[in-house]
Amino acid sequence: MKNNKKIYIETYGCQMNVSDSEIVASILTEHGFENTHEVTLADIVLVNTCSIRENAEERVRKRLQYFKSLRKKRPELIIGLLGCMADRTKTALMEEEQLLDLVAGPDSYRHLPQLLAQVGTGQKAIDTILSTDETYADITPVRLDSNGVSAFISIMRGCENYCSYCVVPSTRGQERSRDAASIVREATDLFVKGYREVTLLGQNVNSYDWKTGNTAINFARLLEMVAQVSPLMRIRFATSHPKDISDELLYTIARNSNLCKAIHLPVQSGSNHMLDLMNRKYTREDYMERIQAIRRIIPGCAISTDIIAGFCNETEDDHRDTLSLMEWVGYDAAFMFKYSERPQTLAADTLDDNIPAEIKDRRLTEIIHLQQKLSLAKNQDEIGKSLEILVEGSSKRSNNQYFGRSSQNKVAVFNKTAAGEGEYIQVKISGATSATLLGEVV
Ligand code: SAH
Ligand code: SF4
Ligand code: F3S
Repeated sequence: MKNNKKIYIETYGCQMNVSDSEIVASILTEHGFENTHEVTLADIVLVNTCSIRENAEERVRKRLQYFKSLRKKRPELIIGLLGCMADRTKTALMEEEQLLDLVAGPDSYRHLPQLLAQVGTGQKAIDTILSTDETYADITPVRLDSNGVSAFISIMRGCENYCSYCVVPSTRGQERSRDAASIVREATDLFVKGYREVTLLGQNVNSYDWKTGNTAINFARLLEMVAQVSPLMRIRFATSHPKDISDELLYTIARNSNLCKAIHLPVQSGSNHMLDLMNRKYTREDYMERIQAIRRIIPGCAISTDIIAGFCNETEDDHRDTLSLMEWVGYDAAFMFKYSERPQTLAADTLDDNIPAEIKDRRLTEIIHLQQKLSLAKNQDEIGKSLEILVEGSSKRSNNQYFGRSSQNKVAVFNKTAAGEGEYIQVKISGATSATLLGEVV
């Protein structure tokens, strides 16, 4: 089967894309291709792209220019684009700028071997058709850049929430869930191979829905099934939409010690006016009620979020509503962004991107500063506690230290002992920054 062609895959964007690149690697190695981590050794470069904000696309374009320069020296080098930019930018990047030989959208990866064969005959190859049922359920991903301890499992694809700012429904298409049995099988296989943490991925995992015979499996049930693979396997998930995070799910997490006590619940804004324009389908009050439910049902659960600064028509009062909600929740962590208008979204079609860049910048800076303060306070609360840490590897700063995570998803750094990667170890926390806990093995 070997064809001696080496593939170099570079991934941008979210965890879902990381997981997709592993599916691509699996499909291609099944067809005789080989993976390489060295672009200089590659016959084929595949860039798995993200469209979520304009700067994400700009980074990819710059990188493609670099690959084009390599192709000048090695004309046989094939350059392909995968992922969320595929449909939107194929004409510009392929025909006008002559940057690409191949374009494949997120649901076309099974066709990559044929598409590459087509490129081999000197033609360009494009397939960006979105599917209503592709979940790659039967494909065992090849774990790229793996630490051998934690891995992603895609449990659904697409999104139909149509948040007005968001490009994902147009780049990834209709929402569909993956066969529950195949998810449990993948988790079991990972456990047997020594993995100790899986993150179940979907744009809105709370709407997971799979039917077998007369039984419907919702997300809470799926989580419990995966939790039963082994008490030594930790399970995380992303992302939850605040409008559908149920008490049933929270009780399931509370009941199973290996379901991690950390919930990522993107709020986007603290202002009802913004939430309405964003088409998020919940109010500030609804969101606060869900936070109270988390605090009540899962005491000590970490909560993180995503925030967008400077969305259309955002006033200073709206912005202050975001800051006050952040304080009220006391987030453990947050991903914070400036609004970036995306083509083919409701906001681009119906709203004016009317907040000047300097104001967006200033509001984002205020949000980031506040979050640093909140993260530090949350991390300082851990000082004196003894936490169960899953060791992931050597610390980047020092080879004498390990780093790992607590159930609450906090990174802890501590001196190496006999335990190693993939093992659980009790660490007493003695110090904290806004990003890291420091401690000693007990
Ligand atoms: N499905 C997930 C997240 C998808 S994208 C969810 O609904 O939470 C990750 C984050 O990127 C979003 O939560 C949002 O905060 C941010 N984002 C999405 N579109 C954006 C845009 N046009 N400009 C700025 N940030 C955006
Ligand atoms: Fe985008 Fe909203 Fe879907 Fe998340 S839920 S991917 S923000 S449309
Ligand atoms: Fe992910 Fe970016 Fe696509 S965030 S779903 S890779 S647009």
